[in-house]
Amino acid sequence: MRIVVGVTGGSGSVIALRFLQSLKGGHEVHLIVSEHARLVARAELDLDAREFERYAEYVYDDRDVAARVSSGSFIFDALVIVPCSISTLSKIAAGISDTLITRAAAVALKERRKLVLVPRETPLSTLTLRNMLSLSEMGAVILPAMPGYYTRPKSVEDMVDFVVSRILDQIGGVVNSLIQRWGGYGPGGLHG
Ligand SMILES: Cc1cc2nc3c(=O)[nH]c(=O)nc-3n(C[C@H](O)[C@H](O)[C@H](O)COP(=O)(O)O)c2cc1C
Repeated sequence: MRIVVGVTGGSGSVIALRFLQSLKGGHEVHLIVSEHARLVARAELDLDAREFERYAEYVYDDRDVAARVSSGSFIFDALVIVPCSISTLSKIAAGISDTLITRAAAVALKERRKLVLVPRETPLSTLTLRNMLSLSEMGAVILPAMPGYYTRPKSVEDMVDFVVSRILDQIGGVVNSLIQRWGGYGPGGLHG
């Protein structure tokens, strides 16, 4: 599958990194990292954002709104924005396409392609909730970076894998075993 990945300046650089690592080898990845995502990656992981690029076949500058992913004629299977800052989410909801990431999202919406947004913010304002509803009504998947606890995570990595697994489930094309899936109570189940 051809996947476009946008990384923006919400908290959760580690989720973006793990997601990109999970795609490596199985998909053609086109990557766009926003300027603020670079700052957050430095703050959270001491990571040079070029590390993200190791896991992508193609890399674009977020300021380059003429790059090929800005056109509806560039076919892709899914656009995942992870993490998706509330700023970027709100711009997409309002139809603002002033960066390559927001432009690619506008294309995904108009072409009815899979668009998965992974916001990380709490609490959520009424405006953000409205924007999320509006995006969901337009066909986007709002997938907050919210791990489940029923898997009894032992580490931050386990919690990150939970979120990454849910993103991979959304884009399809690959069955992932990053987490143990819920199998009900009792024998054969997760804690049976
Ligand atoms: C350390 C740090 C953490 C941040 N965490 C969040 C966050 O969790 N969610 C969010 O929406 N914005 C967060 N921000 C703010 C965004 O980075 C900011 O709104 C930025 O303008 C987003 O730009 P972008 O969407 O173009 O990447 C954070 C900023 C910094 C410096």
